[in-house]
Amino acid sequence: MGAGSVGCFVGGLTQLAGVPVHFVGRPRVLTGLRKNGLRLTDQDGLDRRIPALELRLHEQPPAGLKPDLVLLCVKSGATAEAATALGLTLPVGTPVVSLQNGLGNAALARATVQQLHWHAGMVPYNVAELAPGHYHRGTGGALAAEGSAEDTALAAWQTALARVGMTLQLHANLAPVQWGKLLLNLNNPVNALSGRPLRDELLQRGYRRVLAALQEEALNLLDAAQRPVAQLTPLPPRRLLTLLRLPTPLFRLAAARMLRIDAKARSSMADDLAAGRTTEIDALCGEVVRLAKELHRTAPLSTRMQSLVEAWPKRRRPYSPAELLQALGLS
Ligand SMILES: NC(=O)c1ccc[n+]([C@@H]2O[C@H](COP(=O)([O-])OP(=O)(O)OC[C@H]3O[C@@H](n4cnc5c(N)ncnc54)[C@H](OP(=O)(O)O)[C@@H]3O)[C@@H](O)[C@H]2O)c1
Repeated sequence: MGAGSVGCFVGGLTQLAGVPVHFVGRPRVLTGLRKNGLRLTDQDGLDRRIPALELRLHEQPPAGLKPDLVLLCVKSGATAEAATALGLTLPVGTPVVSLQNGLGNAALARATVQQLHWHAGMVPYNVAELAPGHYHRGTGGALAAEGSAEDTALAAWQTALARVGMTLQLHANLAPVQWGKLLLNLNNPVNALSGRPLRDELLQRGYRRVLAALQEEALNLLDAAQRPVAQLTPLPPRRLLTLLRLPTPLFRLAAARMLRIDAKARSSMADDLAAGRTTEIDALCGEVVRLAKELHRTAPLSTRMQSLVEAWPKRRRPYSPAELLQALGLS
């Protein structure tokens, strides 16, 4: 549900694993799939195609379908509407995994439509649409979902994904994993405001200092709230701050693995700003601000970052590292 970058990549791999998949998406995406079929590539040499004739494509969730499992892959701002559309067509109790960023999408979907069985999920890697119908995974990592081996649909999906070399980890509580991912996603607004590809942005120390400061603010709040954070990178979150703040020549050596990013890859928030679409800033910095409020504290950096992203339509000019540091009071 929401056949875009994540939906086409994860849905496509699931079909390649031998599971019939129905893709529900917008005409723009479906037209590309009908014309070119689906092509999936990654940095490790994956290059698989599904011909157009083998794709089951829909503009709405098809009536009468009884799927074993649904993957919710819309952006956070579209969650309530997509959940409602699913609720109108799916049998009661159908399991749905939210493969969305942020912390609150599964809960929002559950509050919107109670009769479906919602699971939080997490996609660790970057997926970009390189051409109509062509989706490319630019980084690595294992998918995760909230659930256990008792959730038969999730367990069956886990077995299927293993056939195409993809790992799905099941967690009783996904919140630590979601917070771990959110810390990394705090780079999305930095990247979007920089106007540069991810790799170029990360090779500028000023932008990395902004990212480290945003992550440190969030980590301090998480510590105060005694919320555990999963480690999703080779370094634990606090050590990552030190790495990010290194001078660039040292960072380039020490972070060689982190820099294994396609030269053109950008965060999807950068694409959203360029296209004038609503961003997911509230699902990222907004969560840090809400955590601060819960603790009767403030999160000035995330608050400011959210304002800068929301004010982009009036500015429409990228921030240099010095401008961004100054805008956040970090220079
Ligand atoms: N891309 C990544 O690298 C990545 C990685 C990890 C996690 N994520 C997360 O995964 C989620 C999806 O991201 P994405 O990059 O895949 O977004 P995307 O490429 O924009 O894909 C979502 C697609 O769903 C469509 N859609 C929205 N509402 C719909 C509805 N009711 N029925 C049918 N289609 C609908 C959207 O169309 P409209 O544009 O017309 O709304 C869009 O084509 C986000 O929460 C994101 O943060 C993304």
